[in-house]
Amino acid sequence: MKQEISLKVNGDIYDLYVEPWRTLNEVLREDLNLTGTKLGCGSGDCGACTVMIDGKSVSSCLTLAVEADGKEILTVEGLAPSGEELHPIQDAFIEKGAIQCGFCTPGMELSALNLLNSNLDPNEKEIRHAISGNLCRCTGYNKIVDAIADAGQRMKSQQ
Ligand code: FES
Ligand code: FES
Repeated sequence: MKQEISLKVNGDIYDLYVEPWRTLNEVLREDLNLTGTKLGCGSGDCGACTVMIDGKSVSSCLTLAVEADGKEILTVEGLAPSGEELHPIQDAFIEKGAIQCGFCTPGMELSALNLLNSNLDPNEKEIRHAISGNLCRCTGYNKIVDAIADAGQRMKSQQ
């Protein structure tokens, strides 16, 4: 039987009826058409599905939609809500060449935000630890690490 839930996603409230076994990833992608959040492994290993719930990064493939009832969710679409001005993390990823195929990028950027929200000057070890749950098949990670360090400085200059 479907359950009624209310999700606040990127500032917008959605009242939905969902089966209790559906994941947050499915509901974001299939019901809300927020396909920026990717589905890779579906088992908590790749980080492609990372979103933030109430300010903490989580794997949306391991989170039931009903568990997110009443919570605030941030997806990659919420990083640049106007669709015009990008978030400093996104600018840094582009300028440092940290994106190749782009499949890991939404999850990487949300994990980066999770780190930078508490530390705008992370060292390399801290950055690598923060993205240790996010797999990238393309970049070799170095440019992603550079981009996250650069994003911290950009966010600092905007404070
Ligand atoms: S799709 Fe969720 S961790 Fe891989
Ligand atoms: S850019 Fe292709 S998986 Fe990371």
